[in-house]
Amino acid sequence: MTFRAQHLLGIEQLSPTEITAILDLADQYADMNRSGRKRGDLLAGLTQINMFFENSTRTQASFEIAGKRLGADVMNMAMQASSIKKGETLIDTALTLNAMHPDLLVVRHPHSGAVNLLAEKVNCAVLNAGDGRHEHPTQALLDALTIRRAKGRLHRLNVAICGDIAHSRVARSNILLLGKMENRIRLIGPPTLMPAQIDHFGVEVYEDMREGLADVDVVMMLRLQRERMDGGFIPSEREYYHRYGLDTEKLSHAKDDAIVMHPGPMNRGVEIDGTLADDINRSVIQEQVEMGVAVRMACMHLLVEARNAQPVGVMV
Ligand code: CP
Repeated sequence: MTFRAQHLLGIEQLSPTEITAILDLADQYADMNRSGRKRGDLLAGLTQINMFFENSTRTQASFEIAGKRLGADVMNMAMQASSIKKGETLIDTALTLNAMHPDLLVVRHPHSGAVNLLAEKVNCAVLNAGDGRHEHPTQALLDALTIRRAKGRLHRLNVAICGDIAHSRVARSNILLLGKMENRIRLIGPPTLMPAQIDHFGVEVYEDMREGLADVDVVMMLRLQRERMDGGFIPSEREYYHRYGLDTEKLSHAKDDAIVMHPGPMNRGVEIDGTLADDINRSVIQEQVEMGVAVRMACMHLLVEARNAQPVGVMV
């Protein structure tokens, strides 16, 4: 398999074969990470810069760990202390860093499309760590790996994605990935939290949790993305939890072996019951975090390999 892309900007650009290749390699890294032998040298001598313009725990930490486990020199830019605060633009910041010859730039930005724009200006591999409401490709890939390991396959599954779909890049990347891999996707949530033009997504839409969860294999809960809301989308958190918060009773409508997922960060008692989130017989939330490191190792591995196969200096 040759990885065609020079950057990882979204699931939209990946073929099912490429998705499978990333997951197969990530599976190997997941096994390696569980063993005592956690260090490789594939990225030795390469420089990875993490630029997070939005808060992150899981994604930033796992990209840093992934780079270090592969031998890269990893630098985390403290964006709050950077010259962005003095008015420097995103593009000027990227060009400045580009002049220092990094090999991998990992970028999270609050504006949809900002990471794609940045990728046009630099001559190293850019990985999208989440841009606005647009995409969060490595989250969808780690979710896919978690599902595949739990269910033994990643096709012909009924997957429910529940909650704030409208503001969620995680939902968008997951819809794209799960659709490409021929799964049946249900979106469950209040109409105020459904994106416009939902008919174009090739999904089934439910307003009622119990109806939507009937016979699903996977239940993926989402956080209310308050930082992206500019008005009242729900009457109250209490009412929202009553109607859309996942608890044992609502989960009983799904298949008996349905797994519970959440990309994090979680708001316990808002979109999910805390005890259910911690129930290791149903919840795979900690496995999702674990798979995050393996998937990010695989993505950087394949991007560096793809770049080495290209003449130096050639850009997308
Ligand atoms: N899932 C996710 O992107 O989490 P962080 O915001 O903590 O990176």
